[in-house]
Amino acid sequence: MNFTLRVWRQKDRHDKGQFIRYTVQDISPHASFLEMLDVLNSDLAKQGEEPIAFDHDCREGICGSCGVMINGRAHGPHRGVATCELRMRGFKDGELLVVEPWRARPFPVIKDLVVDRTAFDRIMEAGGFVSVKTGGAPDGNAIPIPKPAADEAMDAAACIGCGACVAACKNASAMLFVSAKVSQLALLPQGQAERHERVEGMIGRMDAEGFGACTNTYACEAECPKEISVAHIARLNREYIMAKVT
Ligand code: SF4
Ligand code: FES
Repeated sequence: MNFTLRVWRQKDRHDKGQFIRYTVQDISPHASFLEMLDVLNSDLAKQGEEPIAFDHDCREGICGSCGVMINGRAHGPHRGVATCELRMRGFKDGELLVVEPWRARPFPVIKDLVVDRTAFDRIMEAGGFVSVKTGGAPDGNAIPIPKPAADEAMDAAACIGCGACVAACKNASAMLFVSAKVSQLALLPQGQAERHERVEGMIGRMDAEGFGACTNTYACEAECPKEISVAHIARLNREYIMAKVT
């Protein structure tokens, strides 16, 4: 398969940046999107040009590092997959692919397609943990947890912290990310000790980092590679109100 790419190139966070046009040829339909970028980078290196910087690690939808906008969609056009899980057979032969980094003030571009997502780390430091001593792996039935709560906590725990929800939102809201982290712990007995401080701390940090408000467009849910439900945002709001009145 052959593709024309318009890729955002930006030397560093102070550079203005611009789109540069490239072509890639003889790409296997089974290649992943990142493998296609690897081929382009190898061509660029052979020509003595600077390869395109992009984030990646696990390449199997687990680490959350690989997100880019493809034709204006966070992680590309397909639902429920991260950029590294996209296969080139999902695009049309000869298609023009516009590739750019997440666009959100709290995620400044470091270089090309790589953005600084440490704002998420600081939100996690503000409450995304438990202080109870968990010790070794407990027996499966030692702490009984109702099945619906366990299922919902597990769904929330699927969040990989990729930032697509922020990139997809016109307000650059981080509510889906924060709600997944708060929900996961609010639903479990181990998360009760800091339940109120957690939600207040994480929302306070989210606001301080410059993320916008949620205006219920559901763009975050539509673009989330783990299909995290906006129902978690409703729980986040309830948790916040409870923390404020108790
Ligand atoms: S909620 Fe979804 S889109 Fe947002 S950071 Fe988590 S996995 Fe990524
Ligand atoms: S490289 Fe880890 S989720 Fe894509």
